[in-house]
Amino acid sequence: MRIGVLTGGGDCPGLNAVIRAIVHRAIKGYGWTVLGIRHGWRGLLQSELDELDLKAVSGILPRGGTILGTSRTNPYMEPEGEVRIRAELKSRRIDALIAIGGEDTLGVASKLHRAGVPLVGIPKTIDNDVNGTDYTFGFDTALSIATEAIDRLHTTAESHDRVMVAEVMGRHAGWIALEAGVAGGADFILLPEYPTSIEEVCGVVLRRHERGRNFSIIVVAEGARLQDEAGGPVIVQGERRDAFGHVRLGGIGATLAERIEQRTGFETRYSVLGHIQRGGSPTAFDRFLGTRFGVAAVDLVQRQGFGRMVAVRGFTIVDVPISEAVGALKTVGPELYELAKVFFS
Ligand code: F6P
Repeated sequence: MRIGVLTGGGDCPGLNAVIRAIVHRAIKGYGWTVLGIRHGWRGLLQSELDELDLKAVSGILPRGGTILGTSRTNPYMEPEGEVRIRAELKSRRIDALIAIGGEDTLGVASKLHRAGVPLVGIPKTIDNDVNGTDYTFGFDTALSIATEAIDRLHTTAESHDRVMVAEVMGRHAGWIALEAGVAGGADFILLPEYPTSIEEVCGVVLRRHERGRNFSIIVVAEGARLQDEAGGPVIVQGERRDAFGHVRLGGIGATLAERIEQRTGFETRYSVLGHIQRGGSPTAFDRFLGTRFGVAAVDLVQRQGFGRMVAVRGFTIVDVPISEAVGALKTVGPELYELAKVFFS
C-alpha cells in the first residue's frame, strides 16, 4: 500500500509530530510506503512529492512548522484541478491520502472524497474552530504564547498606568482570545462571535479608573466585530483575499486602542501577536495530541474508513465524517463568554 500525506492552510505547531507518527505507524505497523506531498494541494497539482522514510522524520517532533511545507492553494479554483489531482494520484500509484488541515483543506478533502478519492482527514488549526473535535493540535501552543504575552503586557501596563490592547489570532472563532484572556486576567475580551461597542469597552476602563485601577488589559481577536457609537460596524480590514475567499485580517487592535484613548483620555498602546502564535516548538499537549491523531489516521486508512476524520472527544480518539467538520465552525458559546464577563469590571 502507498499513502500520500499533505499539510494545507496555515501552518501550526504539532504538524511535524503528526507527520512523524503517520510515517512510524505506516512503515512499522503495516509495511506501507509513505509519500510526502509538498505545499498542500499544490504539490499534487505540480507533482512535488518525495518518499518519507523513518530517517526523513527523525528529530522533527519538537520542531514547529511543517517539513512538507504548506499553502492555501484551492484545487477547485485551478483549471481542471480535480482531474489533475486524480491523474497525479494514479501516476504515483497512491492508494489513499491523509489530508491534515483546517476548514478549507478539509472542505477540499470532502469534495474529493465525494468524487471517489480514498482519503481521511486530520483536523488542524491554532484557532481550534474545526467542528466535530473538542481540540485541534496547535491551539494549546498558541494559547500558551498568547497567555504569556498578556502576562507580560500586564506588568508594563501597571507600571505606566496605561491601557494595553493585545490582538490575538482568531478569524471566525475567539477561542484563543477567550481562553488566553481569562487565563491572563483580561479586563475585557472581544470575540468574533459577539459584536461589541466601543462604549462597552470604555465603560469598563473608566469604571476601573474610578476604583483606582489605573491600568487595563483588553484582549481582542483579530476577527472581532466592533461597533461605533451609532451602532455601525467599524471596518478595519483591507480587500485582499486568499484562494478560499478569506480577507486578510489585522488592524483591529490599533483601531480599538485609538478609539479607547480618544474616548477615555487614558494613554493606550496595542500589541499584535500575529504569527508569533503559530511559530516555534509545540507544547507537550500538542505533540501528544498530534501523535495520537497521526497513528489513528493510519489505522483509519487500514480500516478503509475513507471520508472520515480523526477527532478527540474528551480524552478519547474517535472518527467522524469529514462532512461534519466542514460547513459550520465550532464557535465560542454564550455560556463561556458569560464566564469571561464575570471578570469584566
Ligand atoms: O490558520 C488560522 C489563522 O492563523 C487565522 O487565525 C489567521 O486569520 C490566518 O490563519 C492567517 O493566515 P495567513 O498566515 O495566511 O496570513
